[in-house]
Amino acid sequence: MNRIALVTGGVTGIGAATSLALKAAGYRVCVNYLGNEAGAEAFGRSNGIPTFAWDVADFDACAHGVAEVAAKLGPVEILVNNAGITRDSMLHKMTKEQWRSVIDIDLGGCFNMCRAVIESMRERNFGRIVNISSVNGLMGQAGQTNYAAAKAGMIGFTKALALESAPRGITVNAIAPGYTKTDMVATVRPDILKMIVDAVPARRLALPEEIARGAIFLVSDKAGFITGETLSINGGRYMS
Ligand code: CAA
Repeated sequence: MNRIALVTGGVTGIGAATSLALKAAGYRVCVNYLGNEAGAEAFGRSNGIPTFAWDVADFDACAHGVAEVAAKLGPVEILVNNAGITRDSMLHKMTKEQWRSVIDIDLGGCFNMCRAVIESMRERNFGRIVNISSVNGLMGQAGQTNYAAAKAGMIGFTKALALESAPRGITVNAIAPGYTKTDMVATVRPDILKMIVDAVPARRLALPEEIARGAIFLVSDKAGFITGETLSINGGRYMS
């Protein structure tokens, strides 16, 4: 399988696991990242996966980044929107900046990146988009009004774009991971994280590779009739 796949936030965590799984499955993979220069350099060197730096919250940077990928590798046929941040705070303490940054990066990034690839996918009558949402977009989480709003927004976005894109052979799906063993989850206070894990029927965090496996399934050519769906991978924590 020689299709070209782009994973945002692809140097660490779920993004890195997804990039590696795509490469192992035979796709031509490249990743986007921002800020983590040393990590990106080491990732690219050890895996031979090209890395491209831009800010997914910046509309023009996404357009330029996708054009650069197209010039170097070819048109993006598979997009995994994984880049995201948390800025946890109870709403009564949340700043405008905490709200805006999460909405701009997590949800705005999804729009910016889809917008940058969709015309070429439509022209080619093929595309696979996977938006990495969250269990907390489905069930909410105290301290995450910003993140839950952005991740729930990605699910509505996924459904709307799936409807627009189905006639062109493009599928658009979301994955809603539960709490996963990543740097993002490692920032949660240990006592709070213990309570969270205790509430997971499987009694553990997901591994990034377990989320990546869902993405590999959804982007395959044979998954062409699955669109607008949200695949929960959460150890039984929430069943919608
Ligand atoms: N439900 C209701 N109220 C809660 C609560 C809960 N689950 N947790 C805390 N509160 C209340 C506390 O009782 C406290 O009340 P009082 O002010 O009346 O005493 C108040 O909220 C403040 O609680 P804290 O002392 O904990 O406040 P804090 O400012 O120190 O911390 C917080 C707030 C940063 C949001 C912290 O509670 C926290 O980190 N929560 C976890 C958030 C979380 O799950 N983040 C996930 C990050 S990873 C991720 O998001 C990946 C993914 O997709 C799953």
